[in-house]
Amino acid sequence: MKIVLGINGGTRPGNQDSSASIIKDGKIVTCIEEERFTRIKHAPGVLPENSIRSCLNEAKISIKDVDYVVFAGATYDNMKLILSNFFNLKFRYCPKIYLIDHHLAHAASAFYTSGFNDSFIITADLSGDSRSTVLFYADKKGIKKINSYSKPHSLGLFYATITQYLGFRYDNDECKTMALAGFNSKQNHIINDFLQVKNNEYHINTNYLVKGIMPGKTNPSRQEPLFSEYLVNKLKAKPRFKNEKINEFHLSVAKTAQDKLEQAFFALIKQLKNNKFKSNNLCLAGGVALNAQLNSKIAYSNEFENIFIPPCAGDNGLSLGGALYVANKYKSLLPKRLKATYLGQEFSNKEIKIELDRLKLKYKYIDNIEKVVAEKLANGKIGAIFHGRMEFGPRALGARSILANPKNKKIKEILNKNFKQRENFQPFAPAVLKGKENEYFDFPKTKSDYDFMIINAKVKQEKRKDIISAIHVDNTARVQIVDKKTNSYFYKIIEQFGKITNVNVLLNTSLNKRGMPIARTPNDALNVFFTTPMDFIALENYLIEK
Ligand SMILES: [Fe+2]
Repeated sequence: MKIVLGINGGTRPGNQDSSASIIKDGKIVTCIEEERFTRIKHAPGVLPENSIRSCLNEAKISIKDVDYVVFAGATYDNMKLILSNFFNLKFRYCPKIYLIDHHLAHAASAFYTSGFNDSFIITADLSGDSRSTVLFYADKKGIKKINSYSKPHSLGLFYATITQYLGFRYDNDECKTMALAGFNSKQNHIINDFLQVKNNEYHINTNYLVKGIMPGKTNPSRQEPLFSEYLVNKLKAKPRFKNEKINEFHLSVAKTAQDKLEQAFFALIKQLKNNKFKSNNLCLAGGVALNAQLNSKIAYSNEFENIFIPPCAGDNGLSLGGALYVANKYKSLLPKRLKATYLGQEFSNKEIKIELDRLKLKYKYIDNIEKVVAEKLANGKIGAIFHGRMEFGPRALGARSILANPKNKKIKEILNKNFKQRENFQPFAPAVLKGKENEYFDFPKTKSDYDFMIINAKVKQEKRKDIISAIHVDNTARVQIVDKKTNSYFYKIIEQFGKITNVNVLLNTSLNKRGMPIARTPNDALNVFFTTPMDFIALENYLIEK
């Protein structure tokens, strides 16, 4: 038996999305993110102590059963010593340590969960082990690097800089910039030379950045600007404060950032197409691969027959990628397609009842709770479901979700204002019953899995009014197709909702409040329930109502 424990995180503030994963005999047993325990989003600057304990529990093993611990970060100072001290202090035992390059771990997290026999891979983020974009080719023989870029020539850094200029938190709020870009404003040509694309290469004009961003150097903290005065002077506008009104100018800056990012990606794709390796498949990973609009542009371009983006494309997926890479060394893994992301902890009805009784709450035990949830949603109620193993990755996919009727026009505003306390331009996502997806969406020829809310799809014109609160202003949506085989509970709720309303789609958003990680425990879920105007919550078979 070979057991590999993958971990990610670190002791510096810039190390974030700390997580742990266990692979046992080539199978993914469990993956979990440290933020779900610490309740601080992204869990910056920590090694995943709680996640490791949870993984060992889920896998029913002790630390001494672990053959290898793999850490994503091959060039960090003294990392082997830090890890050995950490394990000896917290676990009284340190397994053999394997350090893997950050981008190689990103690549492995995508390729070894893609199910492809061969694939090109693009990994892109702010920076990891000094590199920011890496192009790979992978097959059964392994993963080979084709080309790479180091910061400041970073697509993640470019997008983060614009995100920060627009008044959002970089390395967190890039989805807000993406959402603003969807308003289809005109491009702001003044900053066209920030990210330059020529001859299938991209280049960052460093005049726009603060000085000192280079390989091996720590990026500025989140309290300091990434952009220079040059950007501010060129745009002739101060950076937006976070609560300032969004205007046409902000929309145009966001639109430029998105267009340039996409242009750079298509240049990278051309590099791959002109390469000596050949493949009809493409995998994406790294924080930039969370850009669902970019992913959909690549899909609709039909440049590849298949594309795959794992649900944990950001740094949270490094623990899984690192573990898969080392597990593959033991035994040639025939890569299997990851179909579901329910890899975290679950809580039984018994455990939930103990918590409800402790809190002296009124509740009902309901056998067929899916039907009751669907009826309440059809009656206009907003509710949450807490069921089965928690999702791995930033999206709630029906294990820790808030649900609502997408046909109700007002729901988007209610959820944004009263539940999430966020700007109303941010869209919500639809979860559609498998088998009904083609009634609602026009998918590209390129095949992809729409299981993880990571690629946008075009919404059919005649169906837009039916799911109006779960689509963006550009008539695309970050769709999740819900498969009976992977989540029969969620499937049954949507199916029943469809029988009542004739709409086989539910609005699905994560069970959390602004700035908080997704709920892990029943107590976390109840905390959201009692501090928002939510009507009901179903914790496994227990229903609690206001
Ligand atoms: Fe990364």
